[in-house]
Amino acid sequence: MLPIASIATLCILSYVTYKYIIYPAFISPLSKIPNAHPSSPFSPLWILLKRFTDQENRSIHAAHVKHGDIVRLGPNEISVNCVDDGIRTIYSGGFEKWPWYHQFDNFGVPCMFSTAESKPHAHRRRVIANVYSKSFLQSSPEMLKISQTIIFSRVLPLLESAAMEQKPVEVLDLSHAIAMDFIVAFIFGLQNGTNFTQDVSARRQFFDTYQKRRPYRFWSSELQGLKSILNRIGPIIEPKFVQEATNYLENWTLTWTKAAEKSCATKAPDEEHIPSTTPVVYSQVHQSTLKTPFPYPQDLQIATELQDHWAAGHETTGITLCYLFHELSLHPSLQQQLRKEFLTLSPTLTYPPPTPSLPTPQTLDALPLLHACLLETLRIHAAIPGPEPRTTPSKPTSLAGSPPLPAGVRVSAQPYTLHRRADVFPDPEAWKPERWLDASEEQRAEMGRWFWAFGSGGRMCIGSNFAMQEMKLITAAIYTNYTTHIVDDEGIEQIDAYTAHPRANKLVLRYERVEN
Ligand code: HEM
Ligand SMILES: *[C@@H]1O[C@H](CO)[C@@H](O)[C@H](O)[C@H]1NC(C)=O
Ligand SMILES: *[C@@H]1O[C@H](CO)[C@@H](O)[C@H](O)[C@H]1NC(C)=O
Ligand SMILES: *[C@@H]1O[C@H](CO)[C@@H](O)[C@H](O)[C@H]1NC(C)=O
Ligand SMILES: *[C@@H]1O[C@H](CO)[C@@H](O)[C@H](O)[C@H]1NC(C)=O
Ligand SMILES: *[C@@H]1O[C@H](CO)[C@@H](O)[C@H](O)[C@H]1NC(C)=O
Repeated sequence: MLPIASIATLCILSYVTYKYIIYPAFISPLSKIPNAHPSSPFSPLWILLKRFTDQENRSIHAAHVKHGDIVRLGPNEISVNCVDDGIRTIYSGGFEKWPWYHQFDNFGVPCMFSTAESKPHAHRRRVIANVYSKSFLQSSPEMLKISQTIIFSRVLPLLESAAMEQKPVEVLDLSHAIAMDFIVAFIFGLQNGTNFTQDVSARRQFFDTYQKRRPYRFWSSELQGLKSILNRIGPIIEPKFVQEATNYLENWTLTWTKAAEKSCATKAPDEEHIPSTTPVVYSQVHQSTLKTPFPYPQDLQIATELQDHWAAGHETTGITLCYLFHELSLHPSLQQQLRKEFLTLSPTLTYPPPTPSLPTPQTLDALPLLHACLLETLRIHAAIPGPEPRTTPSKPTSLAGSPPLPAGVRVSAQPYTLHRRADVFPDPEAWKPERWLDASEEQRAEMGRWFWAFGSGGRMCIGSNFAMQEMKLITAAIYTNYTTHIVDDEGIEQIDAYTAHPRANKLVLRYERVEN
């Protein structure tokens, strides 16, 4: 008996040694890739720990600085930092998403963003993409009405009274509110949209609920299985209010969705203070669910998609605006140059407006300095700075000079590091909009290839045109008539997270009228 048991033990031991030590460290194609940490070939513990302690972006960044364009983070995970044989192969080559994205399901139903597989994703995206295209947005009567209402009836009156009363303004929260009003109105119709720019108590209640879930993200993103098991035992890792907050937000989206359905059926007339617009995104998503039926109730299929759009649409945009306003406040002469550019618009955005009409999105889009300021802000302060994980396909593919990699490896790149290549962006830590203006055509094309704030390929941000159009309008409206000055920017540095807001969650500015 004994020798058999010994042989069995020996076999098991050899197998385990081979599988968990010899193969990953010496034989796997991944073994040819530099390790971010000595334990990387054997265990994902190191990178998990970095994620748990909010040091993921900086650890991956440091590994690339030390080892070059490709690093191994764990037994089955790598990170790349190059365009050719890097982000082009992965993201434009249609590698599917790592299931990590299931944390962004709502109602337990996948949305376009959280769908890992290419096919169901592409069907949905094809129908929805039209309403977020640049040409659609620039000529959309709904977008025009929404813009006029939010700029002239909400943003400018608010800043005017802040300037008059010399009252400091917390602009991160305000930027989130303005962005939320824009996207919610475009999705559900202005008559059923939010009024968070002005209605501070409704804003606070909603955003507090949204934001208090943040510290618990790690569990649903990295250890979903463990989380479900532990949650069954009790609120060990996640307090009850996290699920309650999610229920609250999902309830809101369902209520808005029903209101949009109703207003599609009975076109609401303009009321005195609340003009009415067709719920643009709702209608489009409704169509997409008719064309590609999913195995979920139709109202939830629609609602999960719309919830993702308002979440993705307000948080990233608010962060970007906040950093743009911060950089401009640090650069008063740039504010002056920008104002000169804004005064070439017709009509100008002076307040109070002679007539409440706006310059066209096309003319705003053609302002070179404004465009450069936004690109530079998105480069240095990408709202999503960290890794965007994908899965290697069944066809063995090499990346950044690696041997062909097997299927099922977790692979990602991160804007934070791509945007800090000194050979592409000299003096990479400096916020310098001029770099986009002074560059030769060739240099600008190269910077464009490395600019990755919205991702690239088939899963690139669907809202990038929407975000750019609204951010340009908001910035022009503010800096035509006001200068901004820092009152309190303590804790302005970005946290290390998937969506990276300022550590202190605030930026306080003072607004001053420009008197000519
Ligand atoms: C400055 C503002 C924004 C930034 C920096 C940004 C950034 C990004 C990035 C980096 C991705 C790819 C993420 C990944 O693959 O992990 C993405 C995807 C996405 N974004 Fe945005 N975004 C912004 C605004 C918006 C807006 C306004 C919307 C409104 C609809 C939106 C909706 C989406 C959606 C639906 C996806 C998923 C697309 C797909 O899977 O096909 N984003 N965004
Ligand atoms: C949506 O707007 C219509 C028209 O203004 C209004 O009658 C209805 O109460 C609104 N519904 C919600 C949920 O806000
Ligand atoms: C927005 O909220 C403010 C403050 O609560 C209120 O005075 C204003 O009438 C509201 N506007 C709309 C369009 O709901
Ligand atoms: C859902 O939201 C509506 C308002 O939109 C509110 O009246 C209702 O009480 C909410 N229900 C739950 C269960 O939170
Ligand atoms: C608003 O700003 C413009 C210049 O940007 C200026 O010409 C105008 O006088 C300002 N309006 C008021 C009322 O100060
Ligand atoms: C990313 O990492 C760097 C260090 O490499 C750190 O200084 C920075 O604050 C981090 N930024 C974000 C947005 O996480």
